[in-house]
Amino acid sequence: MKKAIIYVFTGTGNTRRAADFIAQALSGFQIDAAVWEARVPLNTAPDPNGFDCALFGYPIHAFNTPRFFLQFVKTLPSVRRLPAFIFRTSGEPFGANSASSRSLVRILRKKGFIPMLDRQLLMPYNIVFRYNDALAKQMYLHTRDMALVIAYRIAAGKKQALRYAPWAVLLTYLFRLQWLGAWINGPLIHADKGSCIGCGHCAAMCPLQNIRLTGGYPCFSHRCAMCMGCAFRCPKDAVRLGLLDGWRVNGEYPFEKLAADDGVPPTYIDENTAGYFRLFRPYYERTYREIAAVKTELAKAAPAAAGRRTEAPR
Ligand SMILES: Cc1cc2nc3c(=O)[nH]c(=O)nc-3n(C[C@H](O)[C@H](O)[C@H](O)COP(=O)(O)O)c2cc1C
Ligand code: SF4
Ligand code: SF4
Repeated sequence: MKKAIIYVFTGTGNTRRAADFIAQALSGFQIDAAVWEARVPLNTAPDPNGFDCALFGYPIHAFNTPRFFLQFVKTLPSVRRLPAFIFRTSGEPFGANSASSRSLVRILRKKGFIPMLDRQLLMPYNIVFRYNDALAKQMYLHTRDMALVIAYRIAAGKKQALRYAPWAVLLTYLFRLQWLGAWINGPLIHADKGSCIGCGHCAAMCPLQNIRLTGGYPCFSHRCAMCMGCAFRCPKDAVRLGLLDGWRVNGEYPFEKLAADDGVPPTYIDENTAGYFRLFRPYYERTYREIAAVKTELAKAAPAAAGRRTEAPR
């Protein structure tokens, strides 16, 4: 059995869920995948040299790979031509997100990896506004199916041409202003003393260890990735996000519950969708076709593989 390592950065759990789905799907292709979450301290990361391939998953932040994840990848030891596969989650499917992996790809190449694939998966926003239940359910189920597609492509080992449009690359550089913004806004984040219960959950989950409890209340510093984890997961919705507080989203998406709830429709975006989410239709139409094609290929291959298994002992 081959071995894969999945390095993932996640603020509010979406990309972690995608990583877990991919790990699960890879096992169906005889690839044993371990998931490792990038958080401080970084020196506990498994050495990629002990694996047959490596995966890198991150949430798109302001059209970019989060700076913290790039810094983490730079700390990895060099490898000799190890295949690398990228997946990234984002709230929208627009072209502005399309070059978000460009710097990551460059760093990976310098380290000796061979970037083979870069796929975008839609998951609900953890900032600006909350997606409704039906859309959250559709995104979750779709990401689960796309994990199968990604695993299938990884097992096939075919290299995707990774090209990024110059205008989208330029946009990524312009929006890196967000990195400075996160540093400035970090200490402006605070807990509302009227609602904070001092449970320390925010401090325990912050992937950058940017929060410490002082006098029973969390105190935030500059080393913030704007991952939104603290505000999203606070049980009392007590985190105030400084300059970004108007974009605060609080409370986990209950994906597993939604998936099991027949009262919530499994699709929100379809050919009849109007308004803003109409713009999501091309992404879903294209990827649902891809999912169907991969499932057909696998169904065709299954009897042949079963036949080989029954013939083998003779
Ligand atoms: C600071 C910040 C910036 C974001 N920027 C984008 C963006 O440029 N494009 C996009 O589609 N989604 C954007 N999002 C949404 C996230 O990419 C999306 O919700 C992602 O699935 C979150 O993953 P996580 O739960 O693993 O952190 C942004 C989220 C945050 C917190
Ligand atoms: S998670 Fe919320 S309630 Fe708990 S310490 Fe942090 S801000 Fe306070
Ligand atoms: S302080 Fe909050 S937003 Fe900043 S990195 Fe930590 S958990 Fe994420």
